[in-house]
Amino acid sequence: EQDIYKRGLKYERPSFTFQSELWEPQACARLSAEAKGYVYGSAGTRETHNKNIEAFKKWSIQPRRLVKTERFANLQTTVFPGETKETIASPMAIGPVGVLKLFHREGEAAVAKAAADCDVPYILSTASSSSIEETAKANGDGQRWYQLYWPSNEHDDITVSLLKRARQAGYTALFVTLDTYLLGWRPSDMDNGYNPFLKADQVGVAIGFSDPVFREHFRKEHGKEIEEDQSAAAAEWTKIIFPGLSHSFEDVKFLQKHWDGPVVLKGIQTVADAQRAVEIGVQGIVVSNHGGRQQDGGNSSLGILPYIVDAVGKDLTIFFDSGIRCGADIVKALALGADCVLIGRPYVYGLSLGGEEGVKHVINALTGELEMTLHLSGIPDVDKSVLNRSVLLKEDD
Ligand code: FNR
Repeated sequence: EQDIYKRGLKYERPSFTFQSELWEPQACARLSAEAKGYVYGSAGTRETHNKNIEAFKKWSIQPRRLVKTERFANLQTTVFPGETKETIASPMAIGPVGVLKLFHREGEAAVAKAAADCDVPYILSTASSSSIEETAKANGDGQRWYQLYWPSNEHDDITVSLLKRARQAGYTALFVTLDTYLLGWRPSDMDNGYNPFLKADQVGVAIGFSDPVFREHFRKEHGKEIEEDQSAAAAEWTKIIFPGLSHSFEDVKFLQKHWDGPVVLKGIQTVADAQRAVEIGVQGIVVSNHGGRQQDGGNSSLGILPYIVDAVGKDLTIFFDSGIRCGADIVKALALGADCVLIGRPYVYGLSLGGEEGVKHVINALTGELEMTLHLSGIPDVDKSVLNRSVLLKEDD
């Protein structure tokens, strides 16, 4: 921050805005109608999406004074219990977002590089436009986790192949998304007649097209190679990763058997499901409603967070997403009991505005504001002993 003001004395201005509320309109103004519709779009009338954003305004951070400290707040955090424990530099990770080449030609590689550079874990989506291995290479020594869109049981061989590739390429934790066994009712994509997974340039299928088991499956079903009929292959891959029907909690055991590391269930929105997650022995959950992109008419993700924390907060790691837009939002989610937040749309807007540099800007701005907000509130650490509900005031509705 001091550097920015010093450069300002020489009339140098930053390349990207620090006003986080401008990232979305600035990015949307540049993107094609299809790309804008895809990232900005939500399910139905955007009710769940809007509630996600508004929920943060119901809580206020209460600053304490004369808290003597010699340094800014400690952001280091540990996630996952027992042997699977990992230390992360701040309570923040890059959430899984598919088809990133839609937003910038360097797509996932740009984000994976930026994440490694800023020391933030990167979660790669199954619906990515770069392969598991290419993205790992771009991420280098960075921390990386893999998100699974879970094929139906008849395609367990494909699931096993994806998990094996991810482990071999250095992804340590598995995030299993439970709310997207088919894509939501998204009017903005429907108006554009646009499904990024079926489009001729097939940006969202790299992981499938590079998978030996999927390639063999396609060969058997269609009697030809993927390269000979890419549209048919894209349709086949899309049907496999969005099979239309869900799995059961029992099925999670299959993933636990084939994944040597922490398993996290993404998309939990009820206390009952959080309790089932504890029963089956996963290491974490993501309290998330997919940014309101899947089911409309739902509750805000932040609204349910404290109830889930009260029920299972001591038993597993609680990640949170859906609605994080600035550093103060992160403080509120952590105070309500999340261990770590996932950033979604904001970094996609950064990517759209400036590739790798744009993503770094968003991560650094969020981290900087998080640090500053904690410091100015007299909160010396992200540890639960000092960052908890006692720092929040619930504003009247
Ligand atoms: C997503 N999200 C998502 N989640 C996932 O598990 N796999 C995926 O491939 C995607 N793809 C995706 C694409 C786009 C364009 C968006 C905006 C989101 C959901 C994502 O991980 C996260 O849950 C939401 O982005 C959180 O909501 P906000 O904070 O971005 O509104």
